[in-house]
Amino acid sequence: MSQPRLTRLRQAMETKGLEAMFITSAVNRRYLSGFTGSAGYVVITKDRAVLMTDFRYTMQASEQASEFEVVEHALRMTDTLKQLLAEMNINRLGFEQDHVTYSTYTSYQEQLQPVELVPVSGIIEDLRMIKDADELAVMRQAAQLADKTFSHILNFIKPGVSEKELALEMEFFMRKNGATSSSFDTIVASGERSALPHGVASDRIIQGNEFIKFDFGALYQGYCSDLTRTVVLGKPSEKHHEIYNIVLEAQLKALERIRPGMTGREADAIARDVIKGYGYGDNFGHSLGHGLGMEIHEYPRLAHTSDQVLTPGMTVTVEPGIYLPGFGGVRIEDDIVITDNGIEIITQSTKQLLVLDM
Ligand code: GLY
Ligand code: MN
Ligand code: MN
Repeated sequence: MSQPRLTRLRQAMETKGLEAMFITSAVNRRYLSGFTGSAGYVVITKDRAVLMTDFRYTMQASEQASEFEVVEHALRMTDTLKQLLAEMNINRLGFEQDHVTYSTYTSYQEQLQPVELVPVSGIIEDLRMIKDADELAVMRQAAQLADKTFSHILNFIKPGVSEKELALEMEFFMRKNGATSSSFDTIVASGERSALPHGVASDRIIQGNEFIKFDFGALYQGYCSDLTRTVVLGKPSEKHHEIYNIVLEAQLKALERIRPGMTGREADAIARDVIKGYGYGDNFGHSLGHGLGMEIHEYPRLAHTSDQVLTPGMTVTVEPGIYLPGFGGVRIEDDIVITDNGIEIITQSTKQLLVLDM
């Protein structure tokens, strides 16, 4: 499955002057090898791809990681690694500095000497930013499942039900329809709580004449979706309409203008300028979006701090919001793919303000 990924990794290793790379992140291990088990280590050199795991997983690893040599490692993994490195004449080993604790690093250093450990940041995360056709196909399905979940939950929103009950129904629906789990703790934030940008579902009882903000997604075949919609149960006030329409305008404008070649900062500014123009700049206190894939938050960021250039194959969220303490808040979030000449929006749920009967 992953030969192009290994080829791309080897090219990146060559650019960095690395003869071998040791991968300890579970997500990166899965990305490269296809192995979904909870324990394992990957070693990549110019001509070898080795997956070390323990007795519990050797059979599964051989089935899933068909392009890797699967090695059952000793009780102390570094004993096997050291032997392998000696066999291959490796003296410098790149390791994922963002995924190793200091104490693990010191024990590797001690146990692998005289091999030199070279800290490397983001080498696989950079590859993961650009999704291949197989990944995009799965991400479209993950997005579709989020859309279906939103349609499903609309039937359950009634005064008297709690946020947690709604979140549980969403989780149940996603799993019944093929998700491994939700892609993060489901946010159902109603009434004043909707002003909490990340108000994870609570025991609050839905009352009516208030916003309910849903932000959720499915982890489906290893990939995340991330969808936010805000609805009103009962009668919306002018203020509800006002802030909903501003967020919608900001989101639609961003979707209309985002294109390859633009930086994350430029994308963020499109929506932020709209919201600022209406005087609510201080109430949009997070960035416009983030990369999405095997993890819920990846690179690139659509943020005023991001110089990353948007490139075809990147998958990002577009999620402006306005949050008014004591009143409530609105966010509208879609998942998009950067294409050769624009974007493809892969979440499809309606963005007209849904006003639900009590
Ligand atoms: N709830 C995670 C996010 O939208 O970024
Ligand atoms: Mn979200
Ligand atoms: Mn998001």
